[in-house]
Amino acid sequence: MLGKFFRNFKKKSDQTDFYEEKPDIISSVDENQSTVGAEADTKHSASPSVTDRFEALDSGEESHFSRKWSSNTLTIAFANSKGGVGKSTLAFISCLNLAVKQPDSYIEFIDLDRQATTQDSLKRFTNDRFCLIEDPEFLLASGGPNNARIYQHLCSDSFLKSSCKRRLVFFDTPAGTNFVEYSFLNDADYLFVPTSSSDADLFATRKFLGQLFLKDEGFSGHSITQKLPTVLVIPNLLETRQEMMHVYQSLREFPCYLGHPIIYSRLFKRTFGREISDYNVAELLRFTNEFGDWFADIITNPERTQSVPKSLFQI
Ligand SMILES: Nc1ncnc2c1ncn2[C@@H]1O[C@H](COP(=O)(O)OP(=O)(O)OP(=O)(O)O)[C@@H](O)[C@H]1O
Ligand SMILES: [Mg+2]
Repeated sequence: MLGKFFRNFKKKSDQTDFYEEKPDIISSVDENQSTVGAEADTKHSASPSVTDRFEALDSGEESHFSRKWSSNTLTIAFANSKGGVGKSTLAFISCLNLAVKQPDSYIEFIDLDRQATTQDSLKRFTNDRFCLIEDPEFLLASGGPNNARIYQHLCSDSFLKSSCKRRLVFFDTPAGTNFVEYSFLNDADYLFVPTSSSDADLFATRKFLGQLFLKDEGFSGHSITQKLPTVLVIPNLLETRQEMMHVYQSLREFPCYLGHPIIYSRLFKRTFGREISDYNVAELLRFTNEFGDWFADIITNPERTQSVPKSLFQI
């Protein structure tokens, strides 16, 4: 399975500075992957899943998430306590991709980073179904998130005035995010965790995931619904094939998914800024098209991530 990504890397590498190191152990990764795949189980499947929520939506039933936000709202957060791993970049690309690929979804973007770089860059793309939610009350004077206000917003159903059936709420979070202070993250439907393959980033990512999966300290103490978000690690800024392996090996004990990687490219230098042109954005979306397709597939097919893997499972 990883082999597929690597083949694509090769194609992209022709257009970028991506280079190959000595022949690697891809085939053994593929074997590892199928073993890991076989281990995927349904240990959390008794919990209500995102699929249940879509089914409830389709059948018009009130789901057991009524104490949370309504079943037609999906929350998608980009987070890692480490700075500079690509949270804002991925949030930017992902929400624009879905806006293009899912014209019947109502998309909201909430930037919890005081620097608001993603929000500023997205401003000119807003329309009646793609909104930036700018509420100063989302942040406390201390700089931390106002979880109560965020829940209140998620529980509001003002979007129903639009003709869209489904609301997707994207969150970009700042460096230093943790599951205690940002407790709403424990109740997110999807948590995308970008990381590079550098030791510093992987060390921080391990700590971050450890906080979520160590139930006593993280998740169970701070969640309203007591259901884990679907966690997908996104290897970013990759320059060699070996780096993908390194990410996999460093995080393999975590019961979550290893998502579609993104390679290093100078194109990303022009992601942000009010003056970014349509040409820059189109080029970026073209470059990340495979990631965009993968992302849309994950969000629109929740059954793909319904089972929680025992250890890192490439999807
Ligand atoms: N795949 C990539 N290739 C090249 N540069 C990238 C890539 N992904 C992100 N970058 C660049 O890395 C820098 C950090 O990215 P970004 O701002 O998205 O990280 P972040 O995790 O949001 O950082 P912070 O924690 O400071 O908010 C940016 O300059 C961005 O353009
Ligand atoms: Mg950022």
